[in-house]
Amino acid sequence: MYYSEEIVEEVRSKNDIVDVVSGYVKLQKKGGRHWGLCPFHNEKSPSFSVNGDMQVYHCFGCGAGGNVYTFVMNYENYSFPEAIRMLAERAGVQLPEEDESEEQRRKEGRRARLLAVNREAAKFFYYQLRSPQGETGYRYLKKRELSDETIHKFGLGFAGKNGAVLVQYLRGKGFEDELIQEAGLASHSERHGMISQFWNRVMYPIQDTNNRVIGFGGRVMGDGEPKYLNSPETPVFDKRRNLYGLNYARKARSSNIILCEGYMDVIAMHQAGFTQAVASLGTAFTGEQAALLRRYTDNVLLAYDSDGAGVKAALRGIAILREAGLTGKVINMQPYKDPDEFIKALGREKFEERIQQAENSFFFEVRILEGQFHMEDPEEKTRFHREIAKKLCEFSEEVERDNYLQAIADKYFIGIGNLRKLVEGYALQTGRAKPAERPRPGTGRKNAAEEKVKRAQRLLISWIADRPGVYGRIKKYISPRDFTADIYRRVAERMFAELEQGDFSPAGMISLFEEEEEQREAAALFSANLPQLDNLQEQEKAFRDILLSVKKNSYERDLASTGTDVNALTRAIEGKKALEELARTHISLD
Ligand code: GTP
Ligand code: MN
Repeated sequence: MYYSEEIVEEVRSKNDIVDVVSGYVKLQKKGGRHWGLCPFHNEKSPSFSVNGDMQVYHCFGCGAGGNVYTFVMNYENYSFPEAIRMLAERAGVQLPEEDESEEQRRKEGRRARLLAVNREAAKFFYYQLRSPQGETGYRYLKKRELSDETIHKFGLGFAGKNGAVLVQYLRGKGFEDELIQEAGLASHSERHGMISQFWNRVMYPIQDTNNRVIGFGGRVMGDGEPKYLNSPETPVFDKRRNLYGLNYARKARSSNIILCEGYMDVIAMHQAGFTQAVASLGTAFTGEQAALLRRYTDNVLLAYDSDGAGVKAALRGIAILREAGLTGKVINMQPYKDPDEFIKALGREKFEERIQQAENSFFFEVRILEGQFHMEDPEEKTRFHREIAKKLCEFSEEVERDNYLQAIADKYFIGIGNLRKLVEGYALQTGRAKPAERPRPGTGRKNAAEEKVKRAQRLLISWIADRPGVYGRIKKYISPRDFTADIYRRVAERMFAELEQGDFSPAGMISLFEEEEEQREAAALFSANLPQLDNLQEQEKAFRDILLSVKKNSYERDLASTGTDVNALTRAIEGKKALEELARTHISLD
């Protein structure tokens, strides 16, 4: 953190979260909170809640959450310094210059300069395309059937044969050679001086979700190697964390996002009206990109090339989507190579049909697997069935696993009893009575018992946050140690310490967590749905049940670890005492 905690807190407290969020999301007040459609994922009924008392937000649908900083950073794709500057300005707070370290100021200044030089270069390429020197580029794009409107929308441009012009132009705008090089727009050699990186290519500026140009892809016109030249990674161009076209796709409000391989595919799809299309940036699709998509949809359709490489990439993509808790489906492009060619040949309606017919990713995987075995050979067929069983074991949820098991048994004419036995056998053989859990950040399908325990802990924290007065009455029974998950314990530690000092602020606390994932979880903790009970008596009973449940779990855990942990016995004895005392004590919520 580059700003002092005091100034971070001051700026935060002067920006009411309900006000700020209202600028982006239509909110409605209901039951002490504000509700709206979550801007971080696609939904039809509101599960995004903003709590004005605690100054936090939390989405019950996708798990997004945090304070006003987290919101602005996520929505605007700002870094923390960018967010605090915007919020400080909004609230009329003067940010002390000296609070930023020299090092940090240089880094931030550098980022801003890189964005500025990219922007200027994009403008230059854009005008080049429309100048006489750019005619070959313009003709190339026209040949690829792009309309002027599309060319404009994607800011396409042209880098001419005279590479010196760009450098001169940028120098004229006050950018120093070193920066131009760092942005990857030119390189320097003793013999030739500054040489433009992109030469005789059509230019695709790559924008982040906030429409800022972060890099370029340059394509040769016609055949030539390399086909695409991309900007190198720079402090503003992180190829793992950005997606081409997402700045438009995020606003498409479609129920799915279509993931393509190429820039041209994205452009052709948008032109045909599929504005939910995105592509990775000349590199393989990453987990970070999946997490990014998860903000907008839980349904991703893969529109990868239909050749061998494309299928391979699709299989990898499916696994990554699954890890992120997203549903993947695969669009069949046959007999065409990619969406661009498909749409050119058959048009948008036919593509729409293919979207409707997209194949479940598991079926796709099994179908590809099938191709690797000779089914007429019983030995190979058996191996195919074993591979299926192995794959089925990846489903942690029994219902889901069984549904797939039935469907696959039907589809491939395998005796269902036999397949089930294979699955069970495989699960035992790998030492997993229950198959491995699939991680799903935020809303994970957790082991039920553990989830119940965590739920109680979550509710207890929410309850105390909601009624800080109760803390004084229960503090002798409860300690941060009673909370099992690391993040819960850390929240409890800070929260209890702040309550002791009488200045508890949930939203302020969130700023103290550095990782986005921690901020989300902390916000979720303060936003758990408390049981809506009519009378005080019922509320007190519910509260007490939760407290007892948290305490009992912690006691049992200590008891179970007396063999390995020398302090566990002491804690278990204390825990037992607390439980007995709680059983006799009335805890008032009044
Ligand atoms: P067109 O061939 O013009 O239709 O472009 P495309 O976008 O369909 O390209 P293709 O399907 O061949 O490749 C998919 C993506 O991979 C491209 O959009 C680039 O991001 C990347 N790519 C392709 N060729 C190269 C290359 O030679 N070098 C690099 N760095 N990336 C490439
Ligand atoms: Mn193509």
